[in-house]
Amino acid sequence: TWTAANIAESLIADIRAQVGEDGLAICGLSGGVDSAVAGALVQRAIGDRLTCVFVDHGLLRAGEREQVQTDFVAATGARLVTVDAEDIFLGHLAGVSDPEEKRKIIGREFIRSFEGAVGEVVAGGAQGGSDQSAGAQQVDFLVQGTLYPDVVESGGGSGTANIKSHHNVGGLPEDLEFKLVEPLRLLFKDEVRAVGRELGLPEEIVSRQPFPGPGLAIRIVGEVTKDRLELLRKADLIAREELTSAGLDGQIWQCPVVLLADVRSVGVQGDGRTYGHPIVLRPVSSEDAMTADWTRLPYEVLEIISTRITNEVPDVNRVVLDVTSKPPGTIEWE
Ligand code: XMP
Repeated sequence: TWTAANIAESLIADIRAQVGEDGLAICGLSGGVDSAVAGALVQRAIGDRLTCVFVDHGLLRAGEREQVQTDFVAATGARLVTVDAEDIFLGHLAGVSDPEEKRKIIGREFIRSFEGAVGEVVAGGAQGGSDQSAGAQQVDFLVQGTLYPDVVESGGGSGTANIKSHHNVGGLPEDLEFKLVEPLRLLFKDEVRAVGRELGLPEEIVSRQPFPGPGLAIRIVGEVTKDRLELLRKADLIAREELTSAGLDGQIWQCPVVLLADVRSVGVQGDGRTYGHPIVLRPVSSEDAMTADWTRLPYEVLEIISTRITNEVPDVNRVVLDVTSKPPGTIEWE
C-alpha cells in the first residue's frame, strides 16, 4: 500500500544499495522542496557520507537561507556547506538589465560556485577537518531532485553527469564525473511533499511554491542591485504573509512580486510628493505552469497587501495587479 512511510523506507533502501557501504555523495540544495527531500532521503540512507551544498547567490527571498541552514539541518542532521556568493553574483550582474543576459550570468556563476564547493569537498575527502588521514576520497555520486514529470519530459534518460571545470575555479580536477542518485524519479510533486513531511522537513520547505532558480533577479525589471533586492524582499514577504494568513495558499500556484525598477510614478505619501517605483502582484492559478490564469484574489486581501507595501517598503508608492493569463503573458516577468 502507498503510504509516505513505506515509500520513504523503500527509497532509502534503494539509495543504500546504489551508493554501497562507503560511497560518498554530494547534493546541491536550492531551498526548494525537491532537492530538500532528495537530500533528506540520502542523508537517512548514508548519513555523513553525504555533503549538501547550498549556494547563496543573494537573490533569495527573506528567510530562505535560514530555512536551509538552520531548519533543514536541524530536521535532517545533514552535513551542509554554504557558499556565500552574493558579492560575486551582484558584481557580475552590475549594469545588466537584459533578462536573458541575467539568466546566462546567473547560470554560469551558479555552476562555478557549485563546482568550487564540490572541489573543496573532494579535496577534503568529504570529511572536512584535518583529521582526515586518508587524504582525498572519491565522491562518486551526485544527488538530484528529478521528479517523474521531468523524467518523462526528457525521454527517461538517467545515468551520469559531468561537471566541467572552468579556468577560474581552483582545486577542481579537470572533469568530474558523477553517477546520479535520483530518489524521486518515480514520484509526483504531491508525493514528494508527503515524503518530505514523513521525514520531518519543515512545512515552509515542504509546501513551498515554485520559485525560479535565478531568483529575485528576474523579478526586478531593470538592473539588479543590493538596495533593489532589499526592497523587493520586503514587498515579497508582505505578500506571502498576507496570502498565507488569508488562507489562500491552496488556491494559488505562485505569486511573483515584481519591482519595476526602471519605472517611476508620482505619489503623495506622508508629508508630500514622492516619485517612487511600482510593485506588481502576479498571482496565478495553474496545474503545471505551462498555462496559467490570473487568480481572482479577494479585494480585501489586495487592499491589505497594497497598504502594507506602500507603508512599509521605502521608495514604493504604487501597487498594481497583473491580470494577464498565460498565454499571452509568462508567469515571470523576465
Ligand atoms: P514562465 O515565466 O516561463 O514560468 O511562465 C513557468 C514556471 O517556471 C518557473 N521558472 C523557472 N524555474 N528556473 C527555474 O527553476 C528558471 O530560470 C525559471 N524561469 C521560470 C516560474 O517560476 C514558473 O513556475
